[in-house]
Amino acid sequence: MEIVPLGPGFAAELRGVKLADVAADDSAYNAVRAIFEESSVIVFRGQEVTDDGQLAFSRRFGPLEITKVGSLGAGTNLVILSTIDESGKVVPADHRLALRNKANQLWHTDSTFKRVPALASVLSARVIPARGGETEYVSTRLAFQRLEPALRERLKSSFAWHDYAHSRGKIAPDLASAEERAALPPQCWRMVWRNPVNSRGALYLASHAYAIEGMEQTAAQKLLAELMDAATAPGLSYVHTWREGDVVMWDNRATMHRGRPWPAHEARLMVRTTISATEADGLESVRPPSRQAAE
Ligand SMILES: [Fe+2]
Repeated sequence: MEIVPLGPGFAAELRGVKLADVAADDSAYNAVRAIFEESSVIVFRGQEVTDDGQLAFSRRFGPLEITKVGSLGAGTNLVILSTIDESGKVVPADHRLALRNKANQLWHTDSTFKRVPALASVLSARVIPARGGETEYVSTRLAFQRLEPALRERLKSSFAWHDYAHSRGKIAPDLASAEERAALPPQCWRMVWRNPVNSRGALYLASHAYAIEGMEQTAAQKLLAELMDAATAPGLSYVHTWREGDVVMWDNRATMHRGRPWPAHEARLMVRTTISATEADGLESVRPPSRQAAE
């Protein structure tokens, strides 16, 4: 296996390994897992991706999320990200699928708004536009490292509230449906996620974060915005330009990402699997103290 560094201090391409190797073989899994813990974003090129193959690969890393209500693929382990409707046509810009895609272009971490947040996401390209539609990543581990020591200490014992309806509301007021709001009540998480394998902390932020526990709202919004800006400043990202056969996996504990726009008339179809965080991934340590004993 060859490791090719891609981004500024994080992200790597793995050559000489197939998703099927990882699914079938313990030593291949262990090697990839170690690089995942270290690099935060890992890229596989030239894969022959099927839904079953992606599922088998993903299951190696932990339990899979069941896709939430209101998303394509609801009730299965696959999230279908598409702007193609049932008749095979690309939807207009004001269509729900197009607006959701716009929300996906805000910097975020997947599933911070769920009862069990995500360890990792695995995304495969099935139909890609001729240009645009990249996925851009930043390391929130490196962002955390760059902060002043006093702020780092403070954030380690700070907790932020995350709400799906909040990030969707930035795009359109009713983009999160009543059904989604009911299924996804706000969640509270520690603002630093310490990786139990290498002990490195990372800022745990997202477009879904809207408040900080015990902090006045204006000050909290300001701090969240400053942290987001510092984490996503120019020159800090890895931009993945998709090719057919690409699969990218990222650590939701240590990165943020956003989709990049593409010409609206062009089709794009991506399939995501999402791996839930478990105690071995440090889940207990990000729960607010009041809930640590209860759950
Ligand atoms: Fe995402």
